[in-house]
Amino acid sequence: MRRRIKDIIMAYTDRGHGPPVVLLHAFPLNRQMWAPQVRVLAREFRVIAPDLRGHGRTTATDGVYTMDLLADDVRALLDTLGIQEFVLGGLSMGGYVALAFYRQWPERVRGLLLCDTRADADTPERRRSREELSQRAIDEGIEAVASAMLPRLLAPDTLSRRPALVERVRRMILQTPVRGVVGALAGMAQRPDSTDLLPRIACPTLVVTGEYDAVSPPEVARTMGQLIPRCQTVIIEGAGHLPNLERPRAFNRVVRQFLRQTTGLAALAG
Ligand code: MLT
Repeated sequence: MRRRIKDIIMAYTDRGHGPPVVLLHAFPLNRQMWAPQVRVLAREFRVIAPDLRGHGRTTATDGVYTMDLLADDVRALLDTLGIQEFVLGGLSMGGYVALAFYRQWPERVRGLLLCDTRADADTPERRRSREELSQRAIDEGIEAVASAMLPRLLAPDTLSRRPALVERVRRMILQTPVRGVVGALAGMAQRPDSTDLLPRIACPTLVVTGEYDAVSPPEVARTMGQLIPRCQTVIIEGAGHLPNLERPRAFNRVVRQFLRQTTGLAALAG
């Protein structure tokens, strides 16, 4: 589905009925990364997964995509759909956007799902490497971004033994316009430290990360989990930065259980 939202046309998936669950994808991917989750969760929940600005089939504007801007796009989409309260989930960059959303509109969030993400800001070194990647995207195109990102996104075992999955992720990256890559990299580099927000998160929260995630490793997830009051932390064995794709069954099991508890479906089922 596609809708005009503010200054962009936003593409999004809206499947199923029941308590709404909003899923925000990683960089430089798009909503297709949630396919294994949409399939399962849409049996019990209304699952909404947008392509964030500059990704997938959503318009790529010029300029910096701050996490606040991306969160406000999501807020505007949900307003248009008439959805007031929901469980909000995000993976990696999607998690940065989820935290930015929670900071502004906590009353709308019934539960938070923070996957393979982190609350701290970029180090100067990380900012420099984002600038380099941005320049490579401009000079060499999106293929160079795919080559640079794939080893960061997937566990070594996934990279060597699951060529079909590697190819699927590569194709997703290739759909991202260079303008979107540049806007998102600049926005992530500017994102503020959200560590102060963690002890103030009042809703039930699930922190999930892959055992071999190099971007947001298990120790980062555990520290986040300790700072959030009503939080459960789960490490998905054998997965890298994209456990939802690398270990979909294990990922879906913990997420589904969390969603059922958070939305009261588990209590209804007895
Ligand atoms: C992502 O997966 O969204 C990015 O790797 C996050 C980041 O670069 O910080």
